[in-house]
Amino acid sequence: MTLPASSRFQFTEDISICRVLNGMWQVSGAHGYIEPARAVAEMFAYHDAGFTTWDLADHYGPAEDFIGEYRREFAKRNGAARLAEIQAFTKWVPRPGRITRRMVDDAIARSSKRMGVECLDLLQFHWWDYSDPSYLDALKHLADVQAEGKIRHLALTNFDTERLRIITENQIRIVSNQVQYSLVDRRPDVAMAPFCRAHNITLLTYGTVLGGLLSEKFLGRPQPSRAELNTASLQKYSNMIDGWGGWELFQALLRALKPIAEKHRVSIANVGVRYILDAPAVAGVIVGTRLGVAEHIADNARVFGFQLDPSDWAKVEAVSAKSRDLGKLIGDCGDEYR
Ligand SMILES: NC(=O)c1ccc[n+]([C@@H]2O[C@H](COP(=O)([O-])OP(=O)(O)OC[C@H]3O[C@@H](n4cnc5c(N)ncnc54)[C@H](OP(=O)(O)O)[C@@H]3O)[C@@H](O)[C@H]2O)c1
Repeated sequence: MTLPASSRFQFTEDISICRVLNGMWQVSGAHGYIEPARAVAEMFAYHDAGFTTWDLADHYGPAEDFIGEYRREFAKRNGAARLAEIQAFTKWVPRPGRITRRMVDDAIARSSKRMGVECLDLLQFHWWDYSDPSYLDALKHLADVQAEGKIRHLALTNFDTERLRIITENQIRIVSNQVQYSLVDRRPDVAMAPFCRAHNITLLTYGTVLGGLLSEKFLGRPQPSRAELNTASLQKYSNMIDGWGGWELFQALLRALKPIAEKHRVSIANVGVRYILDAPAVAGVIVGTRLGVAEHIADNARVFGFQLDPSDWAKVEAVSAKSRDLGKLIGDCGDEYR
């Protein structure tokens, strides 16, 4: 299987990504046991299929080490020159408080060492507490480290539009913001996506398949019990659905998506991913991968083989119109973390 050219996006002048990124929170331990050797072996299947881009973080358990191991094995099999085919986007999530240059240097050195790279492709920065403006110091230090060639590009995760504006006004060049964005959580539509479009910033999205809830598996099913919600993702997005309008309305969404999926000979998850890939400012959708446990490679590849039409959008919007406004309930992007 090879993905079509439309699967690629020129993310920065020097980095092309697969528009469906492989998410590695799923190896952190909060989504079931992951066997390291099997996990790393399966990373090759994603790459060979065309899914060459990985999203991870310093705090996703062994994710950065898996990238390091995978790159070593990849170089052995394919030659070091081909390592350029892999894109690995990590995050730095420091504890709140004062941020010194030393702390930044240490964090970047640690991630680079674990991942086996001289220079990080992308560093996505997270900040817990906006009442502490040290995030600007952190970003200025990160920009200095970037100028020294240890980070290719700076990015954010879970920042709101107001703070993104402040960062932009401080002349710190941000290439992307990673946010929750799905047919259930449409908060980025309101302010984030228009701001990003105006400032040449893209969005990387998560939660787009709602931990797997947005699939045939849950169509026509009663609300899953606590025990059935056996990954951190399923729990997270089940809560999101409760806020958005509840399980019955979610079933109405799945019922609306099913004939759309059948019409295009794809899956419900494909329709959900395609919808967000086509939204303004979106560079890529991150889909979580429980490496060595479950995979949806062939199904997710179908995302690149069809287009939604206005009648499909209308059916989705008819259900969305009945939902609560998550912006009013939670706030802007990332406010659920604060
Ligand atoms: N920045 C942040 O704060 C943040 C927060 C959350 C996530 N993320 C990023 O986003 C990634 C995704 O995490 P997520 O929590 O949002 O999970 P998700 O991508 O919404 O859900 C992943 C799960 O969906 C199921 N799935 C995937 N493709 C499918 C398909 N075609 N059909 C049916 N089910 C399918 C799989 O379940 P099974 O394994 O059970 O088959 C998979 O484990 C993370 O790994 C991380 O990189 C970032």
